[in-house]
Amino acid sequence: RKAELTHTIADFEPAFWPDEQPVDNAVVMTMGALHEGHAALIRAARKQVGQDGRVAVTVFVNPLQFGAGEDLDRYPRTLAADVRLAEENGADVVFAPLPEEVYPNGTPQVRVSGGPMGERFEGATRPGHFDGVLTVVAKLLHITDPDFAFFGEKDAQQLAVIQRMVADLDFDVEVIGVPTVREADGLALSSRNRFLSETEREQALALSKALFAGRDVAAQGPKAVRAAASAALDGAEGVTLDYLALIDPDDFTEAADDFQGEAVLAVAAKVGSTRLIDNVRIIVR
Ligand code: PAJ
Repeated sequence: RKAELTHTIADFEPAFWPDEQPVDNAVVMTMGALHEGHAALIRAARKQVGQDGRVAVTVFVNPLQFGAGEDLDRYPRTLAADVRLAEENGADVVFAPLPEEVYPNGTPQVRVSGGPMGERFEGATRPGHFDGVLTVVAKLLHITDPDFAFFGEKDAQQLAVIQRMVADLDFDVEVIGVPTVREADGLALSSRNRFLSETEREQALALSKALFAGRDVAAQGPKAVRAAASAALDGAEGVTLDYLALIDPDDFTEAADDFQGEAVLAVAAKVGSTRLIDNVRIIVR
C-alpha cells in the first residue's frame, strides 16, 4: 500500500475520500518524528477500519500548544521518514500542513478550552497547553471527519480531555485509546527521548520504575501506591520531579485515599533539560 503525502486541505480531502463509497475511516494525529508508539496507533487504526477502510495520519507541529520557552523550535522534523513509517504501518494518506494552512487567520481568537480538567497536572505546568491541543484536535477532526480517532495512553490527560471534548461538544467520532509502547527496559517511547544523553537515558528509567513499583502494590490502596512510587523516585539522580500523582481518570482529579477502581498513576519530571511524562493504568483496591 502506498501512502499519499498531502500538504493542503484541498489535496487532502480527495485523497482521503477518493470515491463515494461509504467505508470506515480513521485518523491518527501526530506532531511527526514518528516512532513505534505512533506506529502502534496507525496499526490499531488500520485494524479498526479493515483493509477497505481509510487511514489518515496527520503530521503537524502545532505552535498553539507550545508555551514560551518550550521546545517548539527544536522539535524534531523528519517528514520523509514519517511518511515511510506511516505507510509501512498501514496509512493511506499523510496530511502535513504548514501553520498557514491550519491557521490562515493567524493565531485563532476562539479556542476550545479544557476547563478545570485542562488546568491540573500538565495544564498547571504548561498553562494554555490543552487549549492549544484541543483547538487543533477539533480543527483536524473537522478537516478529516473520521469515524475513529486514535490517541495514545502515554498522554493520559490529553486522551482524557479529548474524550471529554468529544462527549461535551457532541463530536461525531469515536475516540480510541492505545496502550503505551515502551522500550524493553521500560522507558516509554517519546519523540523527546532523542534529546537524552546516555547518562540521562539511564536516569530516565527512574520514572517507569517508580510507576511499576506503584503498580505492584495497587491491591493495597492509594496510600501504598503513592508511597511505593515516591520511594522509588527518592534520590533518583538527575531527575527533577514535577509531579507524581494517583489520578481519577474520569475528571483528572487526585484520587482520594479511599479511591477504588481504575486509576492513572502519572509522573512528570525533567531529566537534564528534557521534560518527560509517563503513566500506568492500575486497578486500585
Ligand atoms: P505526539 O506527541 O506526536 O503524539 C501523537 C500520538 O501518539 C498521541 O496520541 C500520543 O499519545 C501517541 N504516543 C506518543 N508516544 C506514544 C507511546 N510511547 N505509546 C503509545 N502512544 C504514543 O500528542 C500529540 O502529538 C499532539 O498533542 C497532538 C494530539 C497531535 C495534537 O497536536
